[in-house]
Amino acid sequence: MSMREIKLCLLGDSGVGKSSLVQRFVSDTFNTHSQPTIGASFMSKTLVVDDQSYKFQIWDTAGQEKYRGLAPMYYRGAAAAIIVYDITRESSFSAVKMWVRELEQYGPGDVVLAIAGNKADLVDQREVTYDEAHKYADQINATFVETSAKTAVNVTQLFTAITRKLP
Ligand code: GTP
Ligand code: MG
Repeated sequence: MSMREIKLCLLGDSGVGKSSLVQRFVSDTFNTHSQPTIGASFMSKTLVVDDQSYKFQIWDTAGQEKYRGLAPMYYRGAAAAIIVYDITRESSFSAVKMWVRELEQYGPGDVVLAIAGNKADLVDQREVTYDEAHKYADQINATFVETSAKTAVNVTQLFTAITRKLP
């Protein structure tokens, strides 16, 4: 079986659950006390989809404002990007739109884009509707899923969907 290497980066506000999604995908665990990422962190994980093996090289960026300037180092040359927001925090969805504009301006032209509305387990605190986010993702031709790093819902599906959009 051949192996494709996919450089991927995660972007989005601090606290939305980027590191938690990566941890769920890579080691199938969840940490309630996950700490803010400093700079960025790297992990890799191989996923088999339709008899093809994909080695994801994942750059998990730090969402805190003071690290904003580092992001281009990680999205440049990326084949795919996942922009994450927290369904219980409207401001984190506004930040998605900011990241999309930044990628359009400075990112790789052919990047496969996915938007993940994380913390889907916290439906009773929802501030961003599924329809609003889905409609926006459709407009910009991005894959959209609501995920929960806590319950694992849609996490593997998110990465699988990305493999299917790769050129
Ligand atoms: P930065 O590294 O600062 O950019 O933050 P981050 O986006 O990596 O967030 P992180 O994964 O560290 O998660 C922040 C907090 O949200 C932690 O307390 C996590 O346990 C919690 N969290 C992450 N994902 C979920 C989820 O799906 N559901 C719930 N309920 N909590 C989550
Ligand atoms: Mg983090």
